[in-house]
Amino acid sequence: AQINGNLTNLINSRLPKKVQGLLLLIGQKAQKEGYKAYAIGGFVRDLLLGVENLDIDIVVEENAISFAEKLVKYIGGNLKTYPNFGTATLTLKDGSKIDFATARMEFYPFPAALPEVEETTIKHDLYRRDFTINTLGFKLNSPVFGDFLDFFNGKKDLEDGIIRVLYNLSFVEDPTRILRAIRFEARYGFKIEEQTLAFMENAINNNMLEEVKVGRMADELKLMLSEKTGLTSFKRAMDLGIIDKIFGEIEDKDRLLKEMETVNNLMEICQVKGISIDEPFLVYLRVILSHCREHIRIKFLKGMNLEKNLYDDLMYFFEEYKGALEKLRNPKFYSPSELVEILGDFSHDSLIPLTAISGSNLVKRRVFLYLEELSKVSIETKGEDLLELGFKPGPIFSEIMENLRKEKLDGNISNKEEEIIWVKSHYLPKLKDGVMTDERY
Ligand code: CTP
Repeated sequence: AQINGNLTNLINSRLPKKVQGLLLLIGQKAQKEGYKAYAIGGFVRDLLLGVENLDIDIVVEENAISFAEKLVKYIGGNLKTYPNFGTATLTLKDGSKIDFATARMEFYPFPAALPEVEETTIKHDLYRRDFTINTLGFKLNSPVFGDFLDFFNGKKDLEDGIIRVLYNLSFVEDPTRILRAIRFEARYGFKIEEQTLAFMENAINNNMLEEVKVGRMADELKLMLSEKTGLTSFKRAMDLGIIDKIFGEIEDKDRLLKEMETVNNLMEICQVKGISIDEPFLVYLRVILSHCREHIRIKFLKGMNLEKNLYDDLMYFFEEYKGALEKLRNPKFYSPSELVEILGDFSHDSLIPLTAISGSNLVKRRVFLYLEELSKVSIETKGEDLLELGFKPGPIFSEIMENLRKEKLDGNISNKEEEIIWVKSHYLPKLKDGVMTDERY
């Protein structure tokens, strides 16, 4: 489809019918109620690129919240409003989301040379954004539906594959844009424009990244590493000195990069084999943080405000992985139960970085033996079986279960019948009135 001054053809040919209808409805309602509504940002960028993106961002003049409140009565769904920000999120019955934001006109070093046109407010709103390719938009109001907005030559930059900021202080004002720039660069195979790169390097060298709260930084890194091209971006971030600024000087950068690649490969293997990974970002993060000084690591982990069990799992990893690796690298024979003893308290998300850090095939074989087979071994004997045998509930229950599992792991027993026989022969002789007579108890 051709892009002239109006995107209707493109909208009709590239967006699902449902989305088309939705946009038209929003435009009708805006027109009727006296608002101006625009589709903007990544949604429009990807529409032009022909990349699927159904995260619809809408900017409204003058008030997004009151408009969204009227709209929800008309089309249904669930509305959440954020009065402090002048924004609202509408969740439709099918689960899709539309974000509404009130057009903002703040003080920015707006280029005086640009001739003022009627769309002053939306133009100012778009000007404060990160890159020209993200400033594209189109009008939704019905009489002008689809009219293309491109105040800052974003379409040309999109065609030329260029990431360009709109004003010199963009990265200083919002240093997370440094990571966004390299994320988009890798995702679309674009280039950061020369002057933009100079502004970026300036912001990096002036320690602007240190101004960003750990939580926001982690969110941005997570977005980066969740992309298919995440490792390309990571390498670029390393070359530009960004990773050193965030995590402190990394001594062995090549090793870190290699370990990150190994993590990526191992996670693909896990996917093929059906081994579950909870949070890929935290798998990568463990590797990165293993290259940091302890105080930086702790500061980062605390700053992320993780749920307690996740935080504990990460802390366990950093406390235990070196000791575990020392054992796993030892070529001596370990029985299955001994391997479980070494690996059993690590989460899957910890075993992948542990393997990557080891750089050892032996460790890899041992970890995957554990993940694919040993971790799945369980026993059939239950608490009620022990009660039936005459044991009184107490710590002895878990001891028996644990030992039974060891026996099963090492192939000494293979079914419930044999489990019961084993318990009887090992524990029953010392049992008196339901309690063990052995002095240990
Ligand atoms: N934006 C910005 N500065 C930021 C983050 C966002 O200027 N630090 C602007 C961008 O113009 C972007 C819009 O806010 O287009 C919406 O942000 P987001 O949804 O994060 O960006 P998308 O461009 O949609 O990116 P993605 O494709 O990764 O969802």
